[in-house]
Amino acid sequence: MIYPIVMYGDPVLRKKAKDIEKGTDILELVNDMYETMHAAHGIGLAAPQIGKGIRLFVVDGTTLEDEPKLKDFKKAFVNPVILYESGTPWGFEEGCLSIPNIREEVERPEKLRIKYFDENWNAFEEDFDGMKARIIQHEYDHIEGKLFIDYLTPLKKRMLKGKLADISKGEVDTEYRILAPLKK
Ligand code: NI
Repeated sequence: MIYPIVMYGDPVLRKKAKDIEKGTDILELVNDMYETMHAAHGIGLAAPQIGKGIRLFVVDGTTLEDEPKLKDFKKAFVNPVILYESGTPWGFEEGCLSIPNIREEVERPEKLRIKYFDENWNAFEEDFDGMKARIIQHEYDHIEGKLFIDYLTPLKKRMLKGKLADISKGEVDTEYRILAPLKK
């Protein structure tokens, strides 16, 4: 099942998401999240973006031809906890399925260690760096109620105000179904 993607301005994107009770059957939900993400040509999708305030996100960088390092990077992260981040912060232009047609440079630390469960409740603790770390950091922010535009300067944010207001009203072009909080 393909969910509509929740747009900027919806309160679910600003809430700290809650842990999923261990052992809960989430296989169908995880499949639906992959399906929703692929339909929107995203490389990451967090549960709040489909209206669910739970600590779960999926990533899939395997379709990016110019990023060979991501060719095995397809995973679900359940109840993840970033244990630490390290390395020199680096900038990259990020986008977000909940904030369509806006891309801005965000600086993030180069490396991280994260513990998480997969969709079958197998436990992992792993290190990631580079683009993998960045995708995880962006999605992890979603379950903390944070968005990439929060990192921008006040000036940049002011410049985006009109576009963001339009997105909240659903006045934005996307190739995927959206759910806009202020759509009349
Ligand atoms: Ni996002």
